[in-house]
Amino acid sequence: MNTLHSDGTVFKELYTETIIKDRIKELAIEIERDLSGSTPVVLAVMKGAVIFLADLVREIQTIDLEIDYVRVKSYGNEEVSSGTVELIQAPGVSLAGRDVVIVEDIVDSGQTIHFLRQHVEDAGAKSVRVATLLFKHECFKFSTPIEYIGFSIPNNFVIGYGLDHKQLKRNLPSIYSKQ
Ligand code: PRP
Repeated sequence: MNTLHSDGTVFKELYTETIIKDRIKELAIEIERDLSGSTPVVLAVMKGAVIFLADLVREIQTIDLEIDYVRVKSYGNEEVSSGTVELIQAPGVSLAGRDVVIVEDIVDSGQTIHFLRQHVEDAGAKSVRVATLLFKHECFKFSTPIEYIGFSIPNNFVIGYGLDHKQLKRNLPSIYSKQ
């Protein structure tokens, strides 16, 4: 298994590029099926979700969709999220009456997605779904639904494929885990 050293920490490859691609194809088929006949807004949560968004939307072939972005700020340290969430970039399109798919790279405690789901509902969306590539099932503290989960993972720090280590390593094509 590949190992990677980043800023003095050893990481091991958790999901290869091929495994990620295959799983994203499966998620895309589910989304196409659930949103058949709709033109959803696919809303990526900056910054980490942009890589997943780019690959996911290119696997969605049978429906039209719009892409938009939100940016949030959560207060906590670099590896463990805690505290509150603030919206610092709102969606650029009206979500009223729209089917919305919020795209995340990772759901950890769930506070970000709980906040965003509420925001999108409050904006008058017709429906809200959440797609996350990674889900830390041991850390999740909310009851907010997560409709599409790529991989459910234990509580280890992960980097690559959009996920950062001190703002670096988002460009790695695989996902690596601190053991
Ligand atoms: C990460 C991730 C989610 C959030 C998940 O973002 O992209 O938005 O944390 O954690 P939670 O479930 O505990 O709320 P981060 O704040 O690291 O920003 P980034 O995407 O810009 O790296």
